[in-house]
Amino acid sequence: MNYPLASIDTAALQHNLQQARRFAPNSRIMSVIKANGYGHGLLPIANALLETDAYAVARLDEAVLLRQGGINHAIVVLEGMHTREQFQCAIDQQITPVLHLAEHVELLLKCNGQVPFCWLMLETGMHRLGMPAEALRLAKQQLNSAGYTDQQLGLMSHFANSDLLDDSRNSAQISVMRQLVTETGLSACMANSAAIISLPDAHYQWVRPGLMLYGVSPFNEQSAKDLGLKPVMQLRSTLIATQLLKPGDQVGYGGEWTATKATRMGVVSCGYGDGYHRHLSNRGNVIIRDRLLPVIGRVSMDTICIDLEHCPAAMPGDEVLLWGSTQLPVEQVAMSAGTIAYELLSVLTQRVHRDYCDGQS
Ligand SMILES: Cc1ncc(COP(=O)(O)O)c(C=O)c1O
Repeated sequence: MNYPLASIDTAALQHNLQQARRFAPNSRIMSVIKANGYGHGLLPIANALLETDAYAVARLDEAVLLRQGGINHAIVVLEGMHTREQFQCAIDQQITPVLHLAEHVELLLKCNGQVPFCWLMLETGMHRLGMPAEALRLAKQQLNSAGYTDQQLGLMSHFANSDLLDDSRNSAQISVMRQLVTETGLSACMANSAAIISLPDAHYQWVRPGLMLYGVSPFNEQSAKDLGLKPVMQLRSTLIATQLLKPGDQVGYGGEWTATKATRMGVVSCGYGDGYHRHLSNRGNVIIRDRLLPVIGRVSMDTICIDLEHCPAAMPGDEVLLWGSTQLPVEQVAMSAGTIAYELLSVLTQRVHRDYCDGQS
């Protein structure tokens, strides 16, 4: 078996999609599979989620890859298109744009043909991508005049703080959205994972889960298990060497960990070249033979070092779990690295083998 290995449980993914449906029973689901399916693999994840109502990716080239891979669902490009050629490609491949600048409408209307649907991105408080209400009304008028019916148009917005429970900025964003939904009568799509779980007022006709599909909790206060989500990825590797250290021996680049007593140390084949975060130097943990063991010294490109004191039986060839179990969820590893699970998952490199199973094996 090749290591490091990301084992991806497609049955867990499908379970999490159903769980999103349970949280938002009256909404259609646009599964967010951008950034290589949050690191899990774009096409395999799309194929495992065929029961979704639509897909969302960030960029046009991701959408084209999905079409080339035989995906016939609606595919929404969240960052939208930026040139006339890109809009023409979207028309030719029947890909759905998000229009977040007035210029997008002009570019789209210069092309031959129509896209199947347009999402008009409304600025409700995140101040990233989105048009203010005034520009959006104008965009809608132009599209209507060019032959797009209201059934081909929708309102989209995105939360800046939905992972924070009871934050008044969420209700403020919801009320800006509600006003435009009432005024235009268009269908709407606003909720990401955290909002699907905690902000039912933002469900509307469509919801847009990403993180929860991969079995990761969007909240610090609630675990994936609490939310009925199953982790999809387990990242594993193997112990490739052990050494006995004397007091005073230093481990790895920069000698940032020094043995204070005789210590058995193990080397695991996984490093930042695989996407294992360098901030886990002297801070991360792994599991060997059911024992939680600390990462010592700096994370190298290909390896990390582990203090084996609490697992004296560990041997080269042993399997090492880097994240994805109840004892070591990716959320906890992200916290140790001072980052978020989104980042750890999506920066896994090509070198990590992905192995897909349906939970049976
Ligand atoms: C515009 C947009 N919608 C939806 C999502 C999905 O969010 P989440 O992964 O928190 O469910 C993202 C993720 O970054 C996004 O950028």
